[in-house]
Amino acid sequence: MDKYIVNGGEKLSGKVRVHSAKNTVLPLLAASVLTDEPVTIRQIPPINDVENMLRILAELGCVITRQRDSAVIDSSNAASHEIPARLTKELRSSVFMLGSVLTRFHRAKISYPGGCDIGLRPIDLHLSGLQRLGVEIVEKDGYIECEAGKLKGADILLDFPSVGATENIMLAAIKAEGMTVIRNAAKEPEIVDLQRFLNAMGAKVRGAGGGTIAVEGVKRLHGVDYTPIGDRIEAGTYLIATASCGGEIEVEGVFTENIAALLHKLRENGCKIHTKNDRIVLWSDGRLKSVNLVETMPFPGFPTDMQSQYVALCCTAKGSTLVVENLFETRYRYVAELKRMGADITVRGRSALVRGVEKLHGASVTASDLRGGAALVIATLKAEGQSSVMDLSYIDRGYADFEGKLRAIGAKIKRVRV
Ligand code: EPZ
Repeated sequence: MDKYIVNGGEKLSGKVRVHSAKNTVLPLLAASVLTDEPVTIRQIPPINDVENMLRILAELGCVITRQRDSAVIDSSNAASHEIPARLTKELRSSVFMLGSVLTRFHRAKISYPGGCDIGLRPIDLHLSGLQRLGVEIVEKDGYIECEAGKLKGADILLDFPSVGATENIMLAAIKAEGMTVIRNAAKEPEIVDLQRFLNAMGAKVRGAGGGTIAVEGVKRLHGVDYTPIGDRIEAGTYLIATASCGGEIEVEGVFTENIAALLHKLRENGCKIHTKNDRIVLWSDGRLKSVNLVETMPFPGFPTDMQSQYVALCCTAKGSTLVVENLFETRYRYVAELKRMGADITVRGRSALVRGVEKLHGASVTASDLRGGAALVIATLKAEGQSSVMDLSYIDRGYADFEGKLRAIGAKIKRVRV
């Protein structure tokens, strides 16, 4: 197990290029079994969630060829429709395999997905959407067994604009007979990128980003060579770190509209921000003022995946901030660790009241989920003195070379084996 040693109090300055979006690459990898022709995905981030998804594909019989930062998936000899529990328990996104494996083999067997413990995370909307397409589902001994003689298009209204359910239904409807309409669909940029990828394979999907998605079933899909969008959550993490510590950063690789809700809040905090195409430049003197309220919402609202990192920033902003987490039930587990650094935070259910303090002090803290781990790193960069951040396996799920990129902008951080 590794840990970070951080000496805080440095201003940050420099350039960071973000990798492809984890939350796009994962459904794209799941979609790669929809065709028996080779699928090339470029700029694949070297993160654990991606490695786990590639292991699942290999388990199904896909041949994976890695070339520099891209992967070629050849599923022409894929034959298995079962995804073993040892692989799904690590990765929430393994559930996306249901839609694509069902389309390929008309049956699928998977155990309940794991992933970051940030809430109940049911998959009822995934399963009810698949049932609407004609899938028979049996839940037995911790496994979900699905069978579909023929997938038939349907009109599906989602109770909640779930990202995962929207993507899974798109993957299952892609070759279904007739038209599928997904209403109250998620609007995240990653959904729009999945639509672009599927259409590049010869699919007929439209409406992504607008809340209603139409999928006209096609007979065949062909191979593709694709470069996904940049990771807006990774970009936001570096922007928040620099805003909190003070300094100047240029983040490359993310389009402004994909991160507008965060930029809006950082401007309210007193940062100066300039954007052009896929470049964002931020200046901060590190003495931020608080905003009154931040509520996480589905896109285009404030992203829940930025909530933890933003709370870390609020810890030393002048004044108090009320943060409301509307998507996940228990996404404040990192708060206890921030309080060990001198943060003044009161959590009640889905709300956290963060009273800004003069300064944080170094401490030994432990990550317990991906974004909470990133938040702890941001707090240790701001804190006076030395800190250590334990259990980096959570951070490695979604950030490639986190400490290297932070060091490149002036942070005093190193990874050591425990
Ligand atoms: C995706 O998770 C992301 N993961 C999450 O990012 C992100 O937090 C989330 O969307 C929201 O933006 C990936 O894309 C791989 P949801 P997902 O289904 O699909 C409820 C990160 O840090 N719900 O939109 O699991 C659910 O409980 C990760 O990168 C149901 O009730 O999110 C939650 O309250 C963490 N029934 C809400 O919807 C369902 O069947 C949003 O979940 C499905 C979801």
